[in-house]
Amino acid sequence: MQTTRLNNGIEMPILGYGVFQITDHKECQSCVRQAIRDGYHLFDTASAYYNEQDVGKACREMVKDCAVNREDLFLTTKVWLQDYGDGKTTQSVERSLKKMGMEYLDLVLLLSRSGLVRAIGVSNFTEKKLEELLDMAQIIPAVNQIERHPFYTEDRYIARMKGMGVQAESWGALCEGLKGIFHNPVLTRIGEKYGKSAAQVAIRWNIQTGCIALTKSVRPEKMKEDIEVFDFTLTQDEIREIASLDAGHSEIIDLENPVTERLLLKAKLLA
Ligand SMILES: NC(=O)c1ccc[n+]([C@@H]2O[C@H](COP(=O)([O-])OP(=O)(O)OC[C@H]3O[C@@H](n4cnc5c(N)ncnc54)[C@H](OP(=O)(O)O)[C@@H]3O)[C@@H](O)[C@H]2O)c1
Repeated sequence: MQTTRLNNGIEMPILGYGVFQITDHKECQSCVRQAIRDGYHLFDTASAYYNEQDVGKACREMVKDCAVNREDLFLTTKVWLQDYGDGKTTQSVERSLKKMGMEYLDLVLLLSRSGLVRAIGVSNFTEKKLEELLDMAQIIPAVNQIERHPFYTEDRYIARMKGMGVQAESWGALCEGLKGIFHNPVLTRIGEKYGKSAAQVAIRWNIQTGCIALTKSVRPEKMKEDIEVFDFTLTQDEIREIASLDAGHSEIIDLENPVTERLLLKAKLLA
């Protein structure tokens, strides 16, 4: 798996497997084990996904079976909004570590200065919020995980983040399957040239344009498909053509909408 160097020097895989909405514990564990067999090293969970324990269990089993070294895995979790603040954030990270049965995490999204994590980052920070944060932060976040796919390219912001030393990471790299992405004529036509699917072209475009891409599938054949993106290279013309699919706004969640913000801030995690 290819990696990229974060602003604190640590290496992060450029493609990862996310477990959002995999609610069945056995299924989640089996998917993570399968993903490791397929070659995924980066895993993305969150306290709010209620499956940190499954990601941890599957990873520990695979390490025990010598299928992978812990040092080669890159485990990300996220602190939920209600758990912001000095003491609360540390407690949330400690809870995540305990659930996962891990000694350390590689990346925690939403800030904490704990020694229990190798890198800290943020998620869903708009340009304005990231600028405000950088004005006062003692540590520049290593990563900002945002929605990004061919229908919401955020190219200017991605370049701006690069200038700030913040690595962009795409969630919903497949637009959560919305907007007919898997049959999009542009992605399909470009894919035909390389013997690849529209999904593989979307993922390749994401990593070739400087983002770490996260995808999720519970189907073994699709998990394999989503990682088989390292044997072809899109041309600059193809990258430009894909960028022209940009709708200029989110297809999944509108973070600028005060109603969304209010709903998210109100949502409490179950114990
Ligand atoms: N920070 C945040 O706010 C945030 C928000 C959302 C997600 N995330 C992270 O990003 C990860 C990925 O995003 P996501 O899960 O929302 O969506 P996604 O990866 O863009 O899309 C997932 C959907 O695509 C389908 N799929 C995957 N590969 C496919 C392929 N090759 N062909 C056809 N269908 C395919 C999956 O179906 P099947 O499962 O049925 O195969 C699923 O319906 C999440 O799991 C999570 O870790 C973060």
